[in-house]
Amino acid sequence: MYRSHTCGQLRLADTGTSVTLAGWVQTVRKFGSITFIDLRDRYGITQLLFNEELNGKLDEQPLGREFVLQAKGVVNERSKKNANIPTGEIEILVSDFAILNKSAVPPFTIQDDTDGGDDLRMKYRYLDLRRNAVKRNLELRYAVNRAARNYLHENGFMDIETPFLIKSTPEGARDFVVPSRMNAGQFYALPQSPQTFKQLLMVSGYDRYYQIVKCFRDEDLRADRQPEFTQIDCEMAFVEQEDILNMFEGLVRSIFKEVKGIDYSDTIHRMTWEDAMYTYGNDKPDIRFDMKIANLKVPITVFVSRQEELKSSAFGSGETGFAVFDNAETVLAIAVPGASEYTRKQIDELTEWVKRPQIGMQGLVNIRYNADGTLKSSVDKFFNADQLKGIANYTNAQPGDLILILAGREEKTRKATSDLRLLMGTRLGFRKDNEFRLLWVLDFPLFEYAEEDNRWVARHHPFTSPKPDQIATMINNNPVIENAADYLNHPYATIKANAYDMVLNGNEIGGGSIRIYQRELQEKMFAALGMDAEEQQHKFGFLLGAFEYGAPPHGGIAFGFDRLCSILGGSESIRDFIAFPKNNSGRDVMLDAPSAIDAKQFDELQIKLDLK
Ligand code: AMO
Repeated sequence: MYRSHTCGQLRLADTGTSVTLAGWVQTVRKFGSITFIDLRDRYGITQLLFNEELNGKLDEQPLGREFVLQAKGVVNERSKKNANIPTGEIEILVSDFAILNKSAVPPFTIQDDTDGGDDLRMKYRYLDLRRNAVKRNLELRYAVNRAARNYLHENGFMDIETPFLIKSTPEGARDFVVPSRMNAGQFYALPQSPQTFKQLLMVSGYDRYYQIVKCFRDEDLRADRQPEFTQIDCEMAFVEQEDILNMFEGLVRSIFKEVKGIDYSDTIHRMTWEDAMYTYGNDKPDIRFDMKIANLKVPITVFVSRQEELKSSAFGSGETGFAVFDNAETVLAIAVPGASEYTRKQIDELTEWVKRPQIGMQGLVNIRYNADGTLKSSVDKFFNADQLKGIANYTNAQPGDLILILAGREEKTRKATSDLRLLMGTRLGFRKDNEFRLLWVLDFPLFEYAEEDNRWVARHHPFTSPKPDQIATMINNNPVIENAADYLNHPYATIKANAYDMVLNGNEIGGGSIRIYQRELQEKMFAALGMDAEEQQHKFGFLLGAFEYGAPPHGGIAFGFDRLCSILGGSESIRDFIAFPKNNSGRDVMLDAPSAIDAKQFDELQIKLDLK
């Protein structure tokens, strides 16, 4: 028997018990003739006390950090107790020990505040995983996994595996491809998600499916994106949008309860995509704080329902005389609460921030709404006090606020204002890790316009259905865009999708839709995306075929499992919640992958490498 107890188990009540522990040497502290060793395993740390006699033995077989040690002894009450760890009241009076394995000196210290940099820790990830901080993240991940499985099982969902070697069926990102030896010259693709399979399972009658499943996407990486990541992937038959929203609100509430002990009983707000874009500048607003964006000038027609409201702009109908505003497609403002006393230097720094290439604005206009009600702006030359007051009212600013204004092209300015809002939210402490705000974003546009090809692309994916009352618009109109400059007036630009995203603290944690389930509409969708009948048959013949054999109405959703874990764990990076993640260049630095393969492997695949 290697051990009778774990290193996190023994307490004062166990005093006098003979035990055997096994684990890793965290620290060795010698005090004259006695030695203390902290022994660590997954469950905790226990202090071992080596007496004089064993000390001699230790000198013959010196122990280093991370040695694997087995120690036998008796549990003893400590004279100096450590209230910081659960085993802190006891120690083991060691009577015998064995070194089960030696360890080289680890390249970084295995403790919470390690001296190891990111790259080093990734190279020796198996050591990094011994650290408490990483272990806690994996424990949280497992807790989310269990909570999700329990909830889904209780609600009649069945876990069904789907294949990883599939046909390239693009969903928006690039596919990873795998050559086939037995079918020389042909390739499998790794699934970007099990999307079409889960739909086929609905056709087969498995009306509540789920899978916690790897997905693969060859896309540019960010802190919240990995080339292989995990989804909690779900699909249901005979449902409408409302059924899905209710079912998966339940899932998320149950995860909060089980994992964080949080009773999230608040209503989960719903916001249309248009509202989200218009008032927060992005489709995954962080609603932990307000600071809504004010549109000082009438924006482009994409905000269809806003046209009436915006007949009057903050500047009245005429020109302001300030060319930066007059020439801009959009002028957007936020009122930053309590920031009117920002110094010149702080404002200059913000101006530099918006001018960075990633944000790309020309400059930043500010209006201080002083506590005494007076207004002072960086554009006083162009606006009198009444006009400034008008702008302040438009932004709902209060005395004491700092109004920040950006002007430029619609899309860029909206994104920049959104980024600025988030930055100010962070700086002012409005974005707390331990405060959670969920939100559904609904009614996305079904299509997005792809300028380079002058055609439509699916905003979510090609299997998403339009709102029921817009199916006719889709069927009865020709998707071809005759006049690129006027694409917003094409009937397809107004079609909304039966799609929804779940947003948590400004992150998209899940997304899904009600699906198309009739062949005719699916064909129309593929055609709208520029696929002729032959290509449709080649790429999606299996799905179109299945829709001819009694496909039920269905819909679903997939949650980004890694993302959900990282937010619940209060971290920016999903890598912290993945046992063996890739770095930002998509490399596994521990395995040194991707890497070249042998000539023999190429031969077997009948492939010759000819890099461009
Ligand atoms: P979607 O593409 O929106 O939908 O993905 C669902 C969720 O997966 C997470 N996610 C990612 N997480 C980490 N790294 C990535 N590269 C990455 N890409 C996406 C996000 C996202 O909300 N088949 C559809 C779902 C459906 O319609 O049912 C799909 O995959 O949190």
